[in-house]
Amino acid sequence: MAIVLISASQDIAQWRESFAALLSGVELRHWPDIGVADEIDMAIAWKAPEGALKSLPNLRLICSLGQGTDHLFRFDDLPPGVPITRLVDDSMRRQMTAYVIAAVTRRLCRMADYAAYQAKGEWHPLAAYDPAAAVVGVLGLGALGRDAAEKLAGLGFEVRGWSRNPAFIPGVECFNGKRSLAEMLGPCDMVCCLLALTSETLGILDARAFAAIKPGAYLINSARGGHVVEADLLAALDSGHLDGATLDVFEAEPLAADSPLWDHPKVELTPHISAVTMVQSCAGQIAENYRRMTAGQPLLHVVDPDREY
Ligand code: GLV
Repeated sequence: MAIVLISASQDIAQWRESFAALLSGVELRHWPDIGVADEIDMAIAWKAPEGALKSLPNLRLICSLGQGTDHLFRFDDLPPGVPITRLVDDSMRRQMTAYVIAAVTRRLCRMADYAAYQAKGEWHPLAAYDPAAAVVGVLGLGALGRDAAEKLAGLGFEVRGWSRNPAFIPGVECFNGKRSLAEMLGPCDMVCCLLALTSETLGILDARAFAAIKPGAYLINSARGGHVVEADLLAALDSGHLDGATLDVFEAEPLAADSPLWDHPKVELTPHISAVTMVQSCAGQIAENYRRMTAGQPLLHVVDPDREY
């Protein structure tokens, strides 16, 4: 049997090298050069083209090549009954927590303002700050959000967390359920979005959510562009209600050349790099799931298709 990697952004040579050591004798093919489709029993997928997974008649497992699984649910074309797993990866968790802490502390220390003063040659101390006086909200308390919330609390911030289901994190005030969203957001100076994108969280950061956050707050989105209604974000920034945003993800990627976000004075953006899938870190859990699938054993990090993550 054979595995197919369906991803335009991954280096197949690196994956083949890792898999040669982990799964000897199993061939790794690269979409669209799949050879005999009947031979493929597992797909490793990131933004697979519409119908690709359904075209593999003997598929027994789909592995999302990301922590997020929203890319698999874009087309409603998943082969019925084939289990799906996702990555839960230490490297991606560390990368994401570092990104969030960088954005939060950069804001707190007014680094962007100081860069502007430096460009003008001005020595201009701004108001002193104390992390303990800043309220940071973390949306999503899964594998990524929980770690970021814990580490931010460890730095002394007052941290509020929000998730779909109840969570308990020492040092973090936790809220759950849609009805408590506005209450959680209210006092936040900074809000970090680390949610999974599902039909329930699509557009969750809209005009209503922004209006619930206190004036002058700052948004960090390193989850998915679909969480934020970009037009509402621009309106909140332009009205002065929000004071700025760090964005790693966008409704459409790559961000269109004519997007007003590119040169918006209150926006700092990065090209979806907050947590990158690294072959050397992720190949092991995917190979382990292949082994488990062939042995009929319980899989790691199984996705619930009804929950979409
Ligand atoms: C990256 O965006 C991921 O889902 O892992």
